[in-house]
Amino acid sequence: MTKPAATLFAFVALFVLSTSYDAKGARRKLQVSNFGTTAEGILVYRYVLTNDKGAEAVVISYGATLVSLKVPDRNGKIADVVLGYDSVDGYEQGTSYFGGTIGRYGNRIAGGQFTLDGKVFHVPTNDGPNSLHGGTIGFNKRVWTAVDRSRADAEVLELSYASSDGEEGYPGSLKVKVTYTLAAESNELRIDYWATTDKDTVVNLTNHSYFNLTGDASQTILNHQLTLHALKFTPVDATLIPTGEERAVEGTPFDFTKPTAIGTRINQDDEQLKFGKGYDHNWVLEKTDKDGLQLAAEVFDPSSGRVLEILTTEPGIQFYSGNFLDGTAKGKGGQAYAYRTGLALETQHFPDSPNHPNFPSTELKPGQTYRSTTVLRFSTRK
Ligand code: BGC
Repeated sequence: MTKPAATLFAFVALFVLSTSYDAKGARRKLQVSNFGTTAEGILVYRYVLTNDKGAEAVVISYGATLVSLKVPDRNGKIADVVLGYDSVDGYEQGTSYFGGTIGRYGNRIAGGQFTLDGKVFHVPTNDGPNSLHGGTIGFNKRVWTAVDRSRADAEVLELSYASSDGEEGYPGSLKVKVTYTLAAESNELRIDYWATTDKDTVVNLTNHSYFNLTGDASQTILNHQLTLHALKFTPVDATLIPTGEERAVEGTPFDFTKPTAIGTRINQDDEQLKFGKGYDHNWVLEKTDKDGLQLAAEVFDPSSGRVLEILTTEPGIQFYSGNFLDGTAKGKGGQAYAYRTGLALETQHFPDSPNHPNFPSTELKPGQTYRSTTVLRFSTRK
C-alpha cells in the first residue's frame, strides 16, 4: 500500500471503529484517536476504555501496550498508577518494557538457546549472555491490529499480531491475541491471551506494567505492602537464570505470605537480593485449582489507600522492584523514573522453562490453543 493510501485506510478504519454501535444503540464503545507514528511511518492508535466507577485504561496498538491506568484513591481522587511514555518514540527507544505485551517468551532464556523436539534453537541475546522478553524486537515493539469488542457490561479491546516462523529465532508462525476488558461496574481490568501455532514452539506471554499506587511516580514503591500467595520461589544465578530449584520462602526476605512493605528487607545481605539488585524473581504460586483464575498478589499503598489484587491462571509471578530504573527514562509529563519508583508483577510461566524440564511446560503444538488470563482488580482501604 502506498503511504497516502495507507493513511486514507487508517482514517476509514478509525471512523468505522469510532462509530460501531449495535442495533439497540446500547452497546458501549471505546474512544479511538491517533497516538502518533512509528519511525517507519506506521500510524499508532490510542484506545481509551472507561467505566462508570472512575477507571480509565489507555492502550495503544504499538506493543499492545497499557499506557495509562487511572483509578480512584480512598478519597475518590483519580490518578494514573502505571509508568509509561507520552509518545510512540518513547516506546520505540525505551528499554524498560513499560506496560508492553511481552512475547514470544516473557523473561529470560539462558544463553539464548533451547532445545525443542531434539533441535537446537538460537534466540537473540539482549541481556548479557541471555535472551530477555522475546529478543531484540519482541511483541512489545510490534504494531498490533485492534478491534473494538465492547459489550453492554464492559469496554473490550482485542489486539492481534501474527509472528512469523523464525521471528527472533522462534519456530512456527504464531497467531496471538490479547484482549483488554474493563468492566463497566467494577474497577477490574482483565487481560486475556490466546495463541495458536503451525509448528511446535514455546510461548510465555505477559504484561509488563510498572505500578506505583501513589499515583505520583516521583515517589518510590518501597512503602507499598505486598502479599504474594506463594510458599516457594525460583532462585537464580548471577545472570538471573533460575538454577532449577524451588526454594521455600519461609525465613527469607522472599516471604511475602503476609503483607510486608517492599522496603523492609530489600537491602538485606542476601545473595539472591544481590543477584537481582533487589527483588527480580519468580514466585511459585500456590494453586488450589490447577487451571482456574486465582489470587496471586495484593499490593496496598497506605498513603492513597489504593489496593491492587492480581488474579491469574499462570503458575508463576515475577516480582521486579524497579531496580534498573535510574532516572534516565523520561516518562509521561516529563517525569524521570528513578530507582524503584515502579514495581512490576508479571504473571507468567517460569523463566527459562524450555531449559528446565521440571518446570511447567511452555510448549505449544499445532492444534493446541494457548490461553492465559490475568485480572487487575482495584479497590481502596482505610
Ligand atoms: C526482568 C528484569 C528486567 C525488567 C526489564 C523484568 O521482567 O525480570 O530483570 O530488567 O523486566 O525492565
